[in-house]
Amino acid sequence: MPDSTAPAGPAAPARGYRGSQKLLHWFTVLAVAAQFTVGYNLDLDDEDCDPPGEDLSGGDTSDAFEDRLDRLEDQCEARADDYDLLGGGFDLAELHLVLGLTVLALGVVRPLWRRVAGLPPWSEHLSTGQRRLATWTERALMLLLVVVPLSGLVLVGTGDDDWLPLHVGAHIAFFVALAAHLSTNLRPAVLRRML
Ligand code: HEM
Ligand code: HEM
Repeated sequence: MPDSTAPAGPAAPARGYRGSQKLLHWFTVLAVAAQFTVGYNLDLDDEDCDPPGEDLSGGDTSDAFEDRLDRLEDQCEARADDYDLLGGGFDLAELHLVLGLTVLALGVVRPLWRRVAGLPPWSEHLSTGQRRLATWTERALMLLLVVVPLSGLVLVGTGDDDWLPLHVGAHIAFFVALAAHLSTNLRPAVLRRML
């Protein structure tokens, strides 16, 4: 969101963003894209671990059969993704946690760095209305870079699936803000400023 009134901070380049801002921008895009890919592939559901024959267990089955069913169920649950960072291998859920913390850190650093580094003047290719839209979508994106991972941490911290709609809702809001962001920025004359 460039400053429309004054030229950017004293040392800011006349056109486009600083190298550090570009690096932060594209590293964030990469981390968020990876995070959505991991998020949609998470398999935290261990209800599917009931092996065939589980419904027979009870009075009708032998102890050996029951033991076998339990072993199969344990093996399946050990394969399912969970947030046990210290035990076992590094699975998708743990990657989701680590990427989420990375995005959260970027979400804190980015607005601080904007203050320090300053912003270039607006692109002359953006109308007043587009500048207003860009201002609000950038604010929304920066806020959601903090809210989305925090909602994930609340979900895992409480262990209560009732928080899932908040996490899902936050990332849908992120998609809406991103679509608006792309509607103003995804054109060569503007994109060039961030390359
Ligand atoms: C930028 C950060 C994040 C993004 C973009 C993100 C995105 C996603 C997405 C797309 C899903 C799949 C939801 C669905 O199936 O509709 C998901 C699920 C989930 N996320 Fe995140 N997430 C982020 C951070 C976190 C963090 C920091 C945690 C905490 C460890 C977390 C915990 C979870 C959990 C537990 C689920 C699965 C819920 C379930 O399927 O039962 N997320 N996330
Ligand atoms: C994770 C997704 C994204 C986030 C959170 C994000 C956030 C931001 C923010 C906060 C700014 C303002 C400048 C700054 O503070 O560094 C910005 C500028 C910009 N973004 Fe993104 N962005 C994302 C994805 C994209 C994508 C996918 C594109 C294009 C393919 C893009 C193109 C641009 C451009 C060209 C600018 C500079 C606009 C101008 O000239 O003022 N962004 N972005």
